[in-house]
Amino acid sequence: MVTPPNNDMPVIPSTRYAHIVGWGMAVPEKILTNQDLEAIVETSDDWIQSRTGIKERRIAGETESTASLGLKAARKALEVADILPTDIDLIVVATSTPENIFPSTASLIQNWLGANRAGAFDLSAACSGFVYGVDMAAQAIRSGSMQVAVVIGAETMTRVMDWQDRGTCILFGDGAGAVVLKASDVEGGVLSAILRSDGSGGDLLGIPTVGSEDLYHSDFSSNGHKMHKMHMNGGEVFKFATRVIKDSIEQALVKANISIEDLSLIVPHQANERIIKAAARSLNVDPDMFVLNVDRYGNTSAASIPIALCEAIEQKRIKPDDYAAFIGFGGGLTWASMVIKWTGAKTADTRTGLSINQQRRQFSYLSVRVRAQWKRFNQRLQNLADRINPRRGRIRRLRDKADQL
Ligand code: COA
Repeated sequence: MVTPPNNDMPVIPSTRYAHIVGWGMAVPEKILTNQDLEAIVETSDDWIQSRTGIKERRIAGETESTASLGLKAARKALEVADILPTDIDLIVVATSTPENIFPSTASLIQNWLGANRAGAFDLSAACSGFVYGVDMAAQAIRSGSMQVAVVIGAETMTRVMDWQDRGTCILFGDGAGAVVLKASDVEGGVLSAILRSDGSGGDLLGIPTVGSEDLYHSDFSSNGHKMHKMHMNGGEVFKFATRVIKDSIEQALVKANISIEDLSLIVPHQANERIIKAAARSLNVDPDMFVLNVDRYGNTSAASIPIALCEAIEQKRIKPDDYAAFIGFGGGLTWASMVIKWTGAKTADTRTGLSINQQRRQFSYLSVRVRAQWKRFNQRLQNLADRINPRRGRIRRLRDKADQL
């Protein structure tokens, strides 16, 4: 029996639709295998594979970060969509591992893209964040207030692992995925979404950080969790995930006015192969309908759905007019499902050759880099001049202060 989606009904009819017209992913080159983990914690390849389906995950190198991975994925998505950075109205980055509390990772990416007309913000809904973000962007497009939005799921989860906690550190990996959403009057795109939260389960997984009430007490929160490190009650999270997936997808299908038989593909959050197989059983569908790549990337939190979507598109598992569902679940607790009618490939397939837009995008990225380098060079020059002539430095600082008054 499907629980009716209560306050989410009825769907307001609209003649504007939000279509996914671009997609891209980026993962670090460095691979961390289960065998590598055997040298870090007491575990085995056999245990990890049989309990999770994970064989390896990617781990960000020294020069990689949440923003740099997100940027790469966003650039690829803009390429597929053939959209200019200056056409973007909104950039949303779903992440649990932002570069800073602020400025947002989205603002960093906005600058690096040269998206100078875009608003930007980070979204915190853990592993459900990408679906939340796509829904927020789609609503803004459908309402008529925006034309183009970029939604990115980006994570460097390996930076917040407690490498002594073998129940958690074996699960997670790094990466990013992005989509471009665009307004259209052609029916399709994002058809429905169900967003849910149950904060009473907030203690089951999380990463305590600067706002925690216990910041004064050094590196630990009152319930013993390490600051800036992930903690998780694996068994309870497993039960929660298997409980919500079926209901959530069924509610999104009701809202989209289609049935499970109409679906061609389900792109689930890649937490654990056993969770995904259990979901297939409870929905009574062929497990092959689910995209599964947890074996190669582990759990990349908010990045896992867009990465899996990109691979499914590459493998031609989805074609125009197919219906697909996304389902995310994780910390909060949060969960979210979405039904889309796929149209994106039409746009990408009809393009050939090197477009003028491609050159304009390259120019935009280059000019942002040149401006940043110039700013750094200028700063260094001033610091040097101040050291050579301290009196000049004092006068300049006084002048700067006076300017601010
Ligand atoms: N290697 C070897 N043994 C391990 C281990 C590891 N990496 N991690 C835990 N164990 C041990 C435990 O200590 C326990 O030993 P004990 O019986 O002697 O006490 C035993 O394995 C079983 O532990 P348990 O936690 O019951 O295993 P499990 O079958 O529930 O699997 C998870 C653990 C974490 C893989 C599983 O609970 C899970 O995937 N949960 C969902 C996590 C998730 O998806 N989180 C993200 C959601 S977004």
